[in-house]
Amino acid sequence: MESSFISDTDTVAAWRDALDREGRRVVLTNGCFDLLHVGHVRYLQEARALGDALVVALNGDASVRELKGEGRPVNTAADRAEILRALACVDRVVVFDEKRATRVIDAIRPHLYAKGGDYTPESLNPEERAALDRAGSEIRILSLVPGQSTSATLRRMAGDGDKSPGTGPRLAILGSGHGSNFEAIADAIDRGTLDATIAVVLSDVADSRVLSLARSRGLPALHIEPGSERGGRLGDAALKEIADRLKSASVDLVILAGFMRILRGPVLEAFAGRILNIHPSLLPLYPGLGAWRRALASGDTETGCTVHLVDSGIDSGAMLAQERVPILPGDTAETLHARIQEREHELYPRVIAAHWAGLMKQG
Ligand code: GRF
Repeated sequence: MESSFISDTDTVAAWRDALDREGRRVVLTNGCFDLLHVGHVRYLQEARALGDALVVALNGDASVRELKGEGRPVNTAADRAEILRALACVDRVVVFDEKRATRVIDAIRPHLYAKGGDYTPESLNPEERAALDRAGSEIRILSLVPGQSTSATLRRMAGDGDKSPGTGPRLAILGSGHGSNFEAIADAIDRGTLDATIAVVLSDVADSRVLSLARSRGLPALHIEPGSERGGRLGDAALKEIADRLKSASVDLVILAGFMRILRGPVLEAFAGRILNIHPSLLPLYPGLGAWRRALASGDTETGCTVHLVDSGIDSGAMLAQERVPILPGDTAETLHARIQEREHELYPRVIAAHWAGLMKQG
């Protein structure tokens, strides 16, 4: 690959050794960087700030085509390298033509390796991961800028859909059962009251109604085998599969809608502040199962529903919004839950829109 902006991998490896002797740390990241957008720029600045020099390993044109399909890259490797080198935070660019950056990692042995938050340490390519382990590289996953991705840029350029001018988030909906909140969200999108796209629906229950509803709407809907961990915890393989699916669907927000499993580490980290759940009580009252039954049994006169961010606890993350629901004389668990769900269906799409607007404002 000829370009004065592209460095030879062996030369960069020697340069890395020289920096190492001075006690300086080299950060490596890799990617296609096909249409540079502000999400890339912030990510690269963040990566550079982790050490003393930043090397970008750029996928060659053939490997971009292999990863992203025909019609990509939009820009040649020589042009992509020139654009990257124009950034103050990028010190060297090397190009690799294989699908994976393994050879470059082995040669450069970076002190730190940075990757975008659409990955998790577990969902890194195993070959690349092994090369990083060989090199003793510290792995850092950096958070993504919501709404800023190459695919979102391309969708905006294509004017994808009048209903979705491209500013709305791409949602993953995770459910285990009935799916009425999924329907409410999908209906709000169809009516145009929620500017969003349902990118994928995932369920730990193969024959759940939520999956069949999603399929009948023509949405990608997948069963994830949850594994055999106890207490509603998802197994490592399930977490990895969820992380991979969220990444390949370019998801912005993860929406739990009756998802009866506990998300852990990698998915939580990659989507920090971008995983929402709805719970049928006025949290912090009655977290966990059968919340409305417990409100009824306690003789409370009102209950409600809460949308909150998801953390590693059970229904314990920061609250975003609540709706109150009176408990009426003669209510049964069923009548009360039905009345709570009416409020949920109205609340959830509204909070998704507001939360996304807040994230976009923060940039
Ligand atoms: C809702 O009541 C929600 O609050 C709770 O699980 C139930 C899901 O219902 N987290 P559905 O599957 O959306 O109909």
